[in-house]
Amino acid sequence: MLTKKLQKQTAIITGANSGIGKGIAIAMGEAGANVIVNYVVNPDVANEVVERIKSSGSQAIAIQADISKEGQVINMFQQAKEAFGTIDILVNNAGLQRDARFHEMTLEQWQYVIDINLTGQFLCAREAVKEFLRRGIVPERSVACGKIICMSSVHQIIPWAGHANYATSKGGIKMLMQTIAQEYGGQKIRVNSICPGAIKTPINKAAWETPKAYNNLMELIPYQRIGTPDDIGKLAVFLASDDSDYITGASIFIDGGMTLFEGFATGG
Ligand code: BGC
Repeated sequence: MLTKKLQKQTAIITGANSGIGKGIAIAMGEAGANVIVNYVVNPDVANEVVERIKSSGSQAIAIQADISKEGQVINMFQQAKEAFGTIDILVNNAGLQRDARFHEMTLEQWQYVIDINLTGQFLCAREAVKEFLRRGIVPERSVACGKIICMSSVHQIIPWAGHANYATSKGGIKMLMQTIAQEYGGQKIRVNSICPGAIKTPINKAAWETPKAYNNLMELIPYQRIGTPDDIGKLAVFLASDDSDYITGASIFIDGGMTLFEGFATGG
């Protein structure tokens, strides 16, 4: 009997040296998983996350890879398999924003966000599915053959002026996730998305760092608090564990009610 929910499983978490990815890496380590802390820059911070996971009793290594580059993704999966034998869980987390008014958005700003947020998820998911199919189900670890968690956003459904590249990438993730879930359901590969609202991380610092910005943000959040990486970590552990075995192809919104259209609480 396994004492921790993800014991003996190996998880790759992309963009795990900051924000939501870091929260998920720590939570999965606490749940007993071997964790691959993927990063592009700031190896020191990635190593801190590795040490923190080790102190919770799990194994962890940091692997540098730009997930928008095919060769680097293939290499990362190779290194991870050499270290831990196989991969059971992929968390497609790495993502960024390059905001601009639509009529001023450069092709570089558009392409960069699509490359990292969407193509990066395709490249990592493809390697994960290949490995899941090669290995098959290992009943001692999980009843599923593999689990993929895609980091989407409330902006998968909420249009976002000034962020056309980002919102488009998140809309694309929805269909990518659902299509993979449909294609490999029969092989018992589960694929789901987490759709966070405002989570206190560096990506949206401007939205929470001053009291004025925070008050404005609260007008969008019925539950009246900003989210934390820990909130997301707990959901990711659930989606990676057999507790969620009948959930696939789902987008789970974790947003304090941001998608409830707070303006309609008093208007309309
Ligand atoms: C964005 C954040 C934003 C949040 C809610 C996220 O996907 O990355 O910058 O605060 O959505 O709008």
